[in-house]
Amino acid sequence: MKVAVIGTGYVGLVAGVCFADMGNRVVCVDTNAATVEKLRAGRSPIYEPGIEELLRRNIAAGRLTVTTQAREALDGTEAAFICVGTPPRDSDGEPDLSLVYGAAKDIANAMTGPLTVVVKSTVPVGTGDAVEEIIRRTRPDMSFSVASNPEFLREGSALADFQSPDRIVFGVEDAKAEETLRKLYLPLRATGAPQIVTRRRTSELIKYAANAFLATKISFINEMADLCEKVEGDVTELAAAVGLDSRIGGAFLRAGPGYGGSCFPKDTCALLHTAQEYGVPLRVVEGTVAANNARKHRMAQKVIEAAGGSVIGMKIAVLGLTFKPDTDDMRDAPSIPLIRHLQRAGAEIAAYDPQGLRQARDRLGNVAFHGDPYECAADADVVVLMTEWNELRSLDLGRLHRIMRTPVMVDLRNIYPPELARRFGFRLVNIGRPG
Ligand code: UGA
Repeated sequence: MKVAVIGTGYVGLVAGVCFADMGNRVVCVDTNAATVEKLRAGRSPIYEPGIEELLRRNIAAGRLTVTTQAREALDGTEAAFICVGTPPRDSDGEPDLSLVYGAAKDIANAMTGPLTVVVKSTVPVGTGDAVEEIIRRTRPDMSFSVASNPEFLREGSALADFQSPDRIVFGVEDAKAEETLRKLYLPLRATGAPQIVTRRRTSELIKYAANAFLATKISFINEMADLCEKVEGDVTELAAAVGLDSRIGGAFLRAGPGYGGSCFPKDTCALLHTAQEYGVPLRVVEGTVAANNARKHRMAQKVIEAAGGSVIGMKIAVLGLTFKPDTDDMRDAPSIPLIRHLQRAGAEIAAYDPQGLRQARDRLGNVAFHGDPYECAADADVVVLMTEWNELRSLDLGRLHRIMRTPVMVDLRNIYPPELARRFGFRLVNIGRPG
């Protein structure tokens, strides 16, 4: 099948290379000429393990091409995927849909025959209706369908998530769209992933409900961690035991500094906005969001307490800056409010991250960035572990202890077992368990 993919961010690029790898002829479109050049040279604008290999393989096989021209991509195409970003607007934090509508218009202007337009970007309920309206108004002469096919991939494991998903959701309003999507996803049948076929509006909402539920699990376990700290419980043991109930499940019960990234914070807020618009209170999601926002600042307070009540003039080394490992993404990373709070409290910040330094430099001022964790921690009064990169899971604790001014470790991801940190002479503060 010939497929067009509009937008080459996380969702678009991953979908593009994976559809190509499944044997389709894919044309990816991006309006940014520099991005297109980079992709053509087999280099990915995003950091995602394994993506460049797949990109090069499919370009070399002639299955994948990249262009700035929607017309080139739409010529003789059966399915066009809208995968552009929906970043939060500065004014009110709601998803900005202008790129989605722009892509709909470009598709409409460039389409040459019957087409299924598939919205893969995360979009509020009703966006599919608006996309349909735009295309109909632009090209009343054309026959087309608009479907929703949300993407559930995680950054850092995006390829595996796309290629062996837990489920595939088709939100369709007609048989043609369902047939096109079923045909395209046929190769993934072998993975056993169930295909859920539903109406478009339900499909749009499924994506938000899934993210809000996962975010709720995280906020729930984080609050349990707070309680564990007061009653001398251990949240890691609690989560393991609670998660063994198959009705609950053990995933997403890792207590930490609060969820971040480009999805959970934005999507939970967008869901609340939709609910408000329709007059339906979503108190559980409201609680999830409020708990997460408050948590980010409480983490800084935790560091200040670990430092003895004041960080004025202290050097604090923050190891790990991205919102999660295996990405260079700094969007809504909990490290940002933590660092700003500590700076306001008078601390000097040194920071290290294996991949996130470039993006961190754009977002954080007055920070001494280092390309090595030990250089970063030299003479520090406190080291804060923010992101559970594998590299930070296997630090030489003896060396770390020797180079720090005072051996205080705030492990916000519960990376190191307390006995181990103690054996190396650290004063350890972690999340929801005794140090
Ligand atoms: C999330 C969802 O997991 C994907 O299914 C979804 O497709 C994606 O959003 C999206 O909407 O595009 P992602 O944001 O890449 O994926 O990352 P996650 O692995 O879900 O982590 C999000 C945040 O939750 C991170 O800050 C992470 O540290 C935190 N987290 C996750 C915890 O604090 N505890 C956990 O147990 C799990």
